[in-house]
Order: sequence, then structure tokens, then C-alpha cells
Amino acid sequence: TTEYNYILTSRPEPAVALITLNRPKALNALCSPLFAELNQALREADADSSVSAIVLTGSGRAFAAGADIKEMKDIQFADAYKNRFLEDWADMTRIRKPIIAAVSGYALGGGCELALMCDIILASPTAKFGQPEINIGTIPGGGGSQRLAKIIGKSRTMEMCLTGRMISAQEASDWGIVSRLVKEGEGEVVKEAIAVGKEIASKSQIHAQAVKEVVNAAYDLNLTEGLKFERRIFHSMFATKDQKEGMSAFAQKRTPNFTNE
Ligand code: CAA
Repeated sequence: TTEYNYILTSRPEPAVALITLNRPKALNALCSPLFAELNQALREADADSSVSAIVLTGSGRAFAAGADIKEMKDIQFADAYKNRFLEDWADMTRIRKPIIAAVSGYALGGGCELALMCDIILASPTAKFGQPEINIGTIPGGGGSQRLAKIIGKSRTMEMCLTGRMISAQEASDWGIVSRLVKEGEGEVVKEAIAVGKEIASKSQIHAQAVKEVVNAAYDLNLTEGLKFERRIFHSMFATKDQKEGMSAFAQKRTPNFTNE
């Protein structure tokens, strides 16, 4: 396995990979090498056929407090433009396996955007989400303005991005940013995310990845195109052995034994 400086990787369940951002002294500020390591670890987990789901979490007081401000402060427009600054962040949206974010503490700026690029977000009551870029003379650059607007609508997105106000875990839950809050307690949210990952791992990988593909299409396509895409992918599921196995197991009143084929 690869050695990393800014993240930790482990396998808490045979089919669930856990990636922990490990730069707690800087509240897991997302410096370029950290993001490169994260993308690499995600690609490795995606390529490993024994992994069915990936959990991403922070450490200490933060999921991640944003892009690294100290790294960014002296960048010139020409450097940012020529080097496509932050463009590699979106590499993780090409990962096919479901990614579950387990958020406790700060998820600010790029940290909030990182969570939004995951497929499911679970949050502890300590979680705080925000897009405070405006306080430091910039705007969201990792997708926050676009992804938030699609999830929580215009007014709430405007308020978050224009005032920089941090919202509570409860607000994030009420607004639909997170799927649910997990009970208070050290490590509880990661434990729950791993349990969700384990549940996903009991399904066929093909079907879990197909679900991810069609749900994400809802954010890109209009309804007519999206419905057509879903129907086509649905039709193609009949070509899988796991569809035959899943439906015969139901008819025979037994548990299916999926082989990811
Ligand atoms: N970048 C670099 N370093 C950061 C950081 C960041 N985004 N966030 C925190 N840190 C560092 C602090 O500089 C500090 O380091 P030192 O100990 O060396 O001084 C350490 O982490 C601990 O932070 P604080 O002392 O500030 O802790 P606090 O409890 O007083 O405050 C906080 C916590 C409110 C989260 C505060 O750290 C903060 O406001 N952080 C910045 C949040 C922010 O603006 N994020 C957006 C970044 S821009 C962005 O992300 C652009 C984009 O869209 C991609």
C-alpha cells in the first residue's frame, strides 16, 4: 500500500475503505499535496475489486476548514489560470464506487465543497458547514455555489456565500445537505458511515455503481434526458448475472449471493 503524508487509509470492514484526512493542526486545510493524495487513495480504492464503498472523514476539530489559505494567498491570476488551480479536485467525481462523507466539526469552503462531491453525507451534531470565502476576499472555487444551489436553492445558497455564515448540523440536515444526523459521541459518525458502507457492500457492486451514475445524472441532465438515461441503464441491468441472482433469490425466498457480474 502507498505511504501518505496527509491522509490515513484503512479497511475497517473487508469491503469498506476508510480515508481519514490527517492534517489536524491545520484543521485539515486542503493543500495541493493533500488533495493529490486523496485523489490517489480514491483511485486505488476504486480499482480494488474487494472494495465496495468508501468512507471519507476528517480528524480533530475539522472535516476540513477549506483550501489552504496560506498556500493560496500569493497566487497570481496567471498561475491559477495556467496551472488550472483546483481543477483536479473534481477528479474524485469520476470515482464509480459510492463515497460516504462522515462530517464532524468544520466543513468550510473547500471542506464543504469536498463533502458535497461525496455521494452521501452523514454529520455529527458538532458539524458546521459554511462557504466563508467572501470573508477572505474570494468566492467558492470548488463547486460550492453550483452544488449548493442545486441542493438548498438560491436564497439559502446566496445567504451562505454572501454572508459567510456557518450553518449548524441541524440546519444542514433540515436543508437537505446531509442525509441525517448521527448521535453525539466521539467516532459515532464514522462508525455509522462504515455501517452504511457495509450495507451497500452487501449489494452487487454493478448495481450500486449504476445507482450512483443515474442519481448523479439528475444534477446534469434535464428531466426528459435523465428519465431516458435511467431507463436505458435499468434495461442494461438485465444483462447482469446479479439481476438473475437477485430476482431468483427473491422468488425462492433466500438471500441473494451477488458475484458482481
Ligand atoms: N487554510 C490554512 N490554514 C488553516 C485554514 C485554512 N483554510 N483553516 C485553519 N487553518 C489553520 C490556522 O491557520 C491555524 O494554524 P496555526 O496554528 O499555524 O496558526 C490552525 O489551522 C488552527 O486554526 P485557528 O487557530 O484559526 O482555529 P480557531 O478555532 O480559532 O478557528 C476556524 C477555526 C473558524 C475554522 C478558522 O480556522 C477559520 O476561519 N479558518 C478558515 C476557514 C475558511 O476561510 N475557509 C475557506 C478557505 S478558501 C476556500 O476554501 C476556497 C475554495 O472554495 C476552494
